[in-house]
Amino acid sequence: MVKSLETQRQSLMGETPKTALAPEHELLKPGVKAPVQETLLTPRFYTTDFEAAAQLDISSQEAELLAIVEELRADYNRHHFVRDEEFQQCWDHIDGETRVAFIDFLERSCTSEFSGFLLFKELSRRLKNRNPILADAFNFMARDEARHAGFLNKSMADFNLSLDLSYLTKNRTYTFFPPEWIIYTVYLSEKIGYWRYILVYRHMEKHPEHQIYPLFRKFESWCQDENRHGDFFIALL
Ligand SMILES: [Fe+2]
Ligand SMILES: [Fe+2]
Repeated sequence: MVKSLETQRQSLMGETPKTALAPEHELLKPGVKAPVQETLLTPRFYTTDFEAAAQLDISSQEAELLAIVEELRADYNRHHFVRDEEFQQCWDHIDGETRVAFIDFLERSCTSEFSGFLLFKELSRRLKNRNPILADAFNFMARDEARHAGFLNKSMADFNLSLDLSYLTKNRTYTFFPPEWIIYTVYLSEKIGYWRYILVYRHMEKHPEHQIYPLFRKFESWCQDENRHGDFFIALL
């Protein structure tokens, strides 16, 4: 997960916006939601100096990085992201401001997961023949983020909306950070992502009356992916 740090809004933990009526979502085409206006609060897309990333000297941390790559390769969550029968129902009863807030949550989450996928995939592609340990790690993390984004986008489809991810890829603004900034920023986002998912999961355990949609049940194992990603970045740091 790659989020801009400003997006850690406490409102995701429960409070719904104080709008009286649910405004219609703007559409790009039928069933495809127009992305929210880019602001400081929307998740960012990043690019970096791939040549400098390829030249990072990781020799002092090589053993630890190799161990983390093996953890990522083990792919503990490969059977986790399944839309079981709990998802197979109509969700029209989630309406009004709850529906608007929940779709907003899905969209922001999907966009940040997808942003991570794009950055990690590109790093893995560019580093493939230059820095194979890093290339492997980025490849496995891209696999995880693609799963996360895909699962969230399918949840949006339960509300008759989806995000056009190829449109986002081409049309979003990319923020350039040098590799050192990327490593620090993404380290923080991954650990914040871990805490965000696990806190939502624990909150729902304590308050099953808010468990309006089965996505939240997936967050316990899901957050472990983000935790492993964070461990990789802290070893790089
Ligand atoms: Fe993720
Ligand atoms: Fe992640």
